Order: sequence, then structure tokens, then C-alpha cells
Amino acid sequence: MAQLWGGRFTKETDQKVYDFNASINFDKRLIDCDIRGSIAHAGMLGRQGIIPKEDSEKIIEGLKGIRSDLESGRLSVSPKYEDVHSFVEAVLTERIGDAGKRLHTGRSRNDQVALDMRLYIRDEVKNVDSLLKELLTVILDAMEKNLETYMPGFTHLQKAQPITLAHHYGAYFEMFKRDRDRLSDIFKRMNYCPLGAGALAGTTYPLDREAVAKELEFAGVTLNSIDSVSDRDYLIEFLSALALIMMHLSRFSEEIIIWNSNEYRFVELDDAYSTGSSIMPQKKNPDIAELVRGKTGRVYGALMSLLTTMKGLPLAYNKDMQEDKEVAFDSIDTAKSCIELFTGMIATMRFNKENMAKSAMMGFTNATDAADYLVNKGVPFRDAHGIIGQLVLYCIEKNIAIDDCTVQELKNFSDKFEEDVFEAISLKTCVDKRLTTGAPGAEAMREAIRISREYLES
Ligand code: ARG
Repeated sequence: MAQLWGGRFTKETDQKVYDFNASINFDKRLIDCDIRGSIAHAGMLGRQGIIPKEDSEKIIEGLKGIRSDLESGRLSVSPKYEDVHSFVEAVLTERIGDAGKRLHTGRSRNDQVALDMRLYIRDEVKNVDSLLKELLTVILDAMEKNLETYMPGFTHLQKAQPITLAHHYGAYFEMFKRDRDRLSDIFKRMNYCPLGAGALAGTTYPLDREAVAKELEFAGVTLNSIDSVSDRDYLIEFLSALALIMMHLSRFSEEIIIWNSNEYRFVELDDAYSTGSSIMPQKKNPDIAELVRGKTGRVYGALMSLLTTMKGLPLAYNKDMQEDKEVAFDSIDTAKSCIELFTGMIATMRFNKENMAKSAMMGFTNATDAADYLVNKGVPFRDAHGIIGQLVLYCIEKNIAIDDCTVQELKNFSDKFEEDVFEAISLKTCVDKRLTTGAPGAEAMREAIRISREYLES
């Protein structure tokens, strides 16, 4: 047991109480952020004359030594300390003597942990963002190659109208692009330095908060010391952004699972991204997509957990807030590995373009266009709708597509049908005539892709 606050106590903490209270087993992740923050704090203390310049220099050297020893493995975090902050201060003092005891001047663990977590989350916001950027690049590359890969678009999971793979992927491009926008908003809002808030009421030392904030690359300092140590909004926002990312990944995963099913056979997963069965030799299962879909639950859980922890908490710091860490760390790990694996999976997945086009044909996805063809020949839309309905019924009975009928057969339903109908209801025509912004027509898609490419390159 090693704690920073023994003075007031006459009795040792019960071991079980100590273990229950300790956070070192999980907050050791913050060690690099803790050292970064302490280096900035110590430098400022020296410059402000709050502690002797030599001590400030010794502290900084000492902290840098701890950092490099951790990196090389010569030093590792010991679970006998209560938390990461106690560990760093104890090792520092062991190494440099009394100067180490001056590091915590004008600081509380409350503003220290608030700073550490912000530094940590700020880095992770950037990490998640760059993983999303890679995912978007894979999606956009596939869009460029599949402007004429026809497939059915669905509503109610029933075939609806023909689209292209590029168009379908474009929907996911928009989702992950919004996810990146959200991350950048969160980054902007959270990027203020809480150090200097002390336990809750600031400090009497003439700290230069602005200089510390600048050194740590914050946009500025927080404006209320109580809020500085009580705020976990940014973390909740980040977990919420991760939950949305997972929601998008889970929808995409679900579609891939369907596309990969024996009935659809739209895609073939690469062997490296699928798994077999211990009993059924024929199996090639989409486990990665299923795991991504499944892991969405734990990220949602983390968001609910932290919202609930923070609910009704009085100002300022309360130990409840220590509960922010494990759920946050787990969600970050989960979301990052999901994005990364998902990206690899779709980058290596092959499309069975013939099956996709056939599925669009056999699903009467061109029925709306067949009705429009009659409308163009003067038939009122409501009548055309009825005629094509009967034609579809006829085709279902014969197990053929509208395109498989002869003109003679079609004329049994309406004498307006001519040879040009086949061109008018081909998948290519159905898609390419849809040219409004955002629609699947190749020309419209090319423009969307151009804008998206520009966005990725900016
Ligand atoms: N381990 C604590 C946390 O994560 C650090 C802050 C401790 N502050 C305190 N007053 N006990 O929240």
C-alpha cells in the first residue's frame, strides 16, 4: 500500500478497502499523459518562481527518465500504488529526492486526472478519426470501380428499385463522414485545459494556466474551476460518437452477412477474414462481421453506464467519476479494432456481380420503370401501375423477368409495348436515368465521388 494522503490518518486502510478504491490497474494507461501534464506543470512552477528553478529542472529530467525507462521496459507500473498519479510521484521522489515532493504544488489529483483524461481522449479522437479516414478511402475506391455494378436496392428487405454498388456504398460513405464531423466537433469543444482548477476552487499560487495550456496544445483554458473537475461531457460525447460509429458498422455488417449468405451470394469474403466450423466442413462463416455487429452492444452499454454514473452527481469531484475509465478504455479498444478489421474485411471482399445483377432483374426492380414507359406512351399512371402488376404476376408464375418476355407476350397486357421497351427497362437505363443529386445514375454518382474524393484529400 502506498498512498499520498496518510498524514491525517491514524490507522492503515483495510486491504479490501484499499483494493476497492485503487484505480492503478486501469488508470496506468494514462501514464504517458500524466507525465506530459506533469512536465508542463513543473516547468510553469519553475518559471513562475513558485518552486526553485533547479527543482523544476530536476523534476522535468526525472519525469523524462521515468518515461524512457517505461518505454525501454526498465520500469513498470507497480500495482502497490493507489493510482497512476501516486506511482509517478513516488518513483520521481525516490529518484530525485525532495525536489520530487514539490511537483504537486498548486495541483490536485482532481484537476490532474481531468487533464490526463482529456489528453488521452484527445489522442484517441484523432486515432479513431484516422481509422475512419482509411475506411472511407476503401469505400470510395470501391465506389469508383462499381458505377455499373447493378444490384437491387431494398425497402422492407424486399427488392425495390435497381441501384449500383457504388450508390449503396455511397450511403455508408456519408455515415462515416458524419462520424468524422462529429469527432471534429467534440475535439473543438473539449480542447481546453482544466489544469489549475485544483481540487475545485483554483489555487492561491500564481499559476500561469495559459502557458501550460499552450505547451499542451490546447486552444485555451477552462473558465470555471468547479466545472473543470466535474465535467465528463466530452467523454460522454465521445462514447456517443463511438456508439454511432458502431451502429453504422453493425448495419453494414448485417448487410454483408446477408450478402454472404447461401441464398444471396452477392459477396465472397476473403479466406483470411472468415472462419470454418469444427463440425460442418462446408462452412465459411462471416464471424468478423458478426463480431462487429455483436460488439456494438458493449459500446452502447458503456455510454449508458457513464450517463448513469454522472446522473445526479453533485458538484464538484466525486469518486464515482473514477468509473469513467474502464468503460471508456474498453469502448475505445473495441471501436478501434472493429473499424480496423471491418476495413480489412471489405477491402478484400469480392463481389459476385452477375448474381447481383440477376437478383435485381428477377426481383422486378424495373417494374416502376416499365410503368413509366407506358406513361410515356400516354397511359395514365394508375392504369400503367395495374397493367405492370398483372404482368409481374404472369412473370412470377413463369419464373421469368419482365425483360425475358417477347414483345408479343407484352402486347397481351398493353398494345403500347414496342421493341424499345427492352432498352427502356434495362438495369442500365433504369439506373442512368436517375440523375438528380444523390441518385444512382452514373453521371450523378461521378459528381458525388468527385466531391467525396476532394473531401478525403483536403
Ligand atoms: N483515481 C481518481 C479518478 O480516476 C483520481 C482522482 C482522485 N481524486 C480524489 N480526490 N480521490 O478519478
